[in-house]
Amino acid sequence: MSTGPLLILGGSGFLGKHLQHYSPGEHLAPRSGELNLLDLSACEAYFSQHRPASVIHAAGFVGGIGLNKENPGRMAVENLRMGLNVLEAAARVGLPHVLVVSTVCVYPKDASIPTSEASMWEGAPAEDTMPYGAAKRMLHTVADALHRQYGLGYTYVIPTNLYGPGDHFEEAKSHVVPALLKRADESRRAGLKELVVWGDGTQTRDLLYVEDAAKGLLKMALGPATNEAYNLSSNRETSVRELAEAICKVTDFAGELVWDTTKPGGAPRRGLDGTKAKERFGFVAETGLEEGLRQTYNWYLDNVAPGAAVSG
Ligand SMILES: NC(=O)c1ccc[n+]([C@@H]2O[C@H](COP(=O)([O-])OP(=O)(O)OC[C@H]3O[C@@H](n4cnc5c(N)ncnc54)[C@H](OP(=O)(O)O)[C@@H]3O)[C@@H](O)[C@H]2O)c1
Repeated sequence: MSTGPLLILGGSGFLGKHLQHYSPGEHLAPRSGELNLLDLSACEAYFSQHRPASVIHAAGFVGGIGLNKENPGRMAVENLRMGLNVLEAAARVGLPHVLVVSTVCVYPKDASIPTSEASMWEGAPAEDTMPYGAAKRMLHTVADALHRQYGLGYTYVIPTNLYGPGDHFEEAKSHVVPALLKRADESRRAGLKELVVWGDGTQTRDLLYVEDAAKGLLKMALGPATNEAYNLSSNRETSVRELAEAICKVTDFAGELVWDTTKPGGAPRRGLDGTKAKERFGFVAETGLEEGLRQTYNWYLDNVAPGAAVSG
């Protein structure tokens, strides 16, 4: 077993900060200014110099549907190129283990629920996030091909929707939890009587608290390479209605929820089958929805909300 440090790529990001926080030992986490993952020779030079025992690739160009629709080219090219460079440089240098952090967007839009790892290639990803999802999907093929030809060790992990402290609340990047928390908070402050939510509330999401995800990923990265794909799931489908009600409770918004069924509610169901990660790594999400939402909301109040001590 190699004795070098853990290398966390994307360590300044939403997920990456939690990976750094829970990293049990020595780790490196270069910013993009120090190591630009779009540059293959820079990756190879950095890996040769530091010879990490394990690499977690949690960098990417990431955002909500809006950012995906406005930047299909960047979504495809940057996410594919960063992953390709990390994997190719690791194979050239002979690193023992790269953990690729993937995304639920790799799955077919009509994948069966709960979605197992085996269904990745059973259909096309959803149109709106196709460039992002297809790029990340391809990284599994690349990792596996480099493993078979050059012996690269990898673990490919597909986390479901993450939420928690440090999440992105700005409109272009926010996902369902921060977007709804922010709107409920603003509605309470403005004394509004209603909170309008898109869809009819029956859509489901698989929501994983980011600290649980970070701990699980670290365990997977710090063990031997498995050369396989694993879902990282809460193993629970939460309806948007249940989520919105929990958010009203956590934010003390006492008004009514109004469902705007003329607006799209997104995919009807999302739920990943986490059996494989549970059996191989003992991964079980520990944080309940209400507790996770409270932690997220407290962070928002301290860091983002009007009058927060820290802005941005
Ligand atoms: N957020 C979610 O709900 C979620 C769910 C499932 C999977 N994921 C996956 O988790 C990963 C991280 O997501 P996130 O939400 O934490 O993203 P994020 O907050 O937007 O952070 C992106 C990170 O990528 C780094 N980065 C971007 N371009 C780079 C480049 N050219 N070279 C080096 N580093 C670069 C950034 O570094 P600098 O700040 O130094 O530029 C930053 O640390 C992504 O792979 C995403 O697909 C996220």
